[in-house]
Amino acid sequence: MSRNAASDSLLQTCGGLDLQIDCEMCTLRPLNRARASNRYCDWLNDDEVNKFSQRLGQLHTAEEVWAYIESANASADTLLLGIFDLTTGAHIGNIQLKFYDHANGLADLSTLIGERDFWGRGYAKDVWKHIVHFGFSVIGVRKFTMGNSAGNKAASGKTLYVGAKLESTKRQHVLVGGEYQDVLEYGLFAADFYAKFPELKAAPAATSARVNDDPTHHG
Ligand SMILES: CC(C)(COP(=O)(O)OP(=O)(O)OC[C@H]1O[C@@H](n2cnc3c(N)ncnc32)[C@H](O)[C@@H]1OP(=O)(O)O)[C@@H](O)C(=O)NCCC(=O)NCCS
Repeated sequence: MSRNAASDSLLQTCGGLDLQIDCEMCTLRPLNRARASNRYCDWLNDDEVNKFSQRLGQLHTAEEVWAYIESANASADTLLLGIFDLTTGAHIGNIQLKFYDHANGLADLSTLIGERDFWGRGYAKDVWKHIVHFGFSVIGVRKFTMGNSAGNKAASGKTLYVGAKLESTKRQHVLVGGEYQDVLEYGLFAADFYAKFPELKAAPAATSARVNDDPTHHG
């Protein structure tokens, strides 16, 4: 991926609002007011969803959510995509790729599946498989880094699933439910990822949205 202007946002260089990454159980698409679930703000204020997050206990407003989406879409290093269930079309959560160190080719990933009915069904693994492929093959990420508190078993599960390896343990690092928990830091190289998913190596990482598939399409 090459940037033509210093002012290009990462989203623009990836295809703008028309970007669509097809997964097996869902599609990933940039967010705007028309696409984002009205429940997005509720996810951020849900104690169970944020059990392992530093967000726990903070209250968020809808206006903050819109401002966050706009700022991510304009950012040079952040790609914020909604996760849309393939069967129902519902916006069930978000995945964010942050290309935080261009000089060293480093990016991290964070996932929020806000609709709890969709937990434990393989959505995070599906999303990670396809966003990691997009990151390596389209954005030019050299290495992904990611971390989670040790008690967040589902977060570790999806990270190990894509081939990431544990690189460090920060002992008793974050306060979760009144107790300090270790933070597990993982790293992922393309060689380890494609060894797990060799079929993706030659596969296209994204398709453009079908024209006029929603009222927000502006060509
Ligand atoms: C963490 C989160 C992204 C996981 O998403 P998910 O779609 O439920 O995860 P998946 O169904 O793809 O499962 C991933 C792995 O975790 C395991 N898993 C899922 N839920 C689990 C649970 N409650 N306890 C233990 N393991 C669990 C799965 O079995 C799978 O591992 P496996 O391949 O070894 O079987 C989701 O729960 C979430 O968004 N939580 C709130 C925000 C959050 O914690 N984000 C991560 C911050 S680092």
